[in-house]
Amino acid sequence: MPRVIPKTEDQKSRISARLSVSFIFGQLEDKDKRVVIDAMETVRYRPGEFVIRQGEDGDLLYVVESGKLECTKLVAGTETFLKYYEQGGVFGELALLYNAPRAATIKAVSDAELYALDRGTFNNIVKESAMQRRIRFENLLVRVNLLSSMDNYEKLQIADALTLAQYSAGEYIIREGEWGDLFYMIEEGTAVATKTIRPGMPPEKIMDYNVGDYFGELALLKGEPRAANIVATSDLKCVTLDRHAFKRLLGPLEEILRRNIEIYESILSQNKLH
Ligand code: CMP
Ligand code: CMP
Repeated sequence: MPRVIPKTEDQKSRISARLSVSFIFGQLEDKDKRVVIDAMETVRYRPGEFVIRQGEDGDLLYVVESGKLECTKLVAGTETFLKYYEQGGVFGELALLYNAPRAATIKAVSDAELYALDRGTFNNIVKESAMQRRIRFENLLVRVNLLSSMDNYEKLQIADALTLAQYSAGEYIIREGEWGDLFYMIEEGTAVATKTIRPGMPPEKIMDYNVGDYFGELALLKGEPRAANIVATSDLKCVTLDRHAFKRLLGPLEEILRRNIEIYESILSQNKLH
């Protein structure tokens, strides 16, 4: 029987709000989500207290309701800062996914309220699909040049957040001038970008896309309408991140993404000369 810890409706809806923005739980069906919510236990930590210690065994995964926690890891004998967790953050999944000792240390830096999920419920509801997604997308993510500066852990977090989208040759994925919320990476197939360069004339081709390439970042970075059309030139499989996941997971790459915008500008200025 799954673990059920009694909760008020108000508590349930708060947990539900945290789960829906978390990648590992975001894809769950409603009935599975309810089982996870029932099994969650509220736990509280004081500043300086350890939630997880690297090297120990662990049976719980945590979702942050409030407060701030620090994640560190022993690297070449030195305790090294990795990241902070705040509201909506999820940690402690590795020990459950891979049956491994804790891979890092997590300590509260303020008062923190967390929801803890037990291994049994995690195994029943979340593990299988999370493992499949990670295995399925791992190969793709190593082929995306843009992500080459990210470590394996960060790539697996991206895998948790991806959604598949498929198109046929000739289909528009993005239309210039429309508003959009998705960022795309190509898993299989080819596409082109076209753009209206001379007013009144048909859009002109400005870019070819292949496996491992990405597009759709500009609208998300700049908060502007789509700057070009993207059209499939074969059957096409893409993976997408929504605006929220893009900001959160690719935030560290923003500088690279912005630098690459210069490439667009140089292609456009060449195009205008012809
Ligand atoms: P787990 O190994 O169960 O416990 C420590 C947690 O730290 C781990 O799960 C991850 O949730 C989290 N963590 C964050 N960044 C890293 C990282 N780079 N390597 C390993 N664990 C990390
Ligand atoms: P976005 O504006 O969100 O949607 C259209 C995408 O086309 C854009 O992001 C870029 O990823 C891509 N693109 C390719 N070449 C250009 C270009 N020269 N100017 C603008 N966008 C381009």
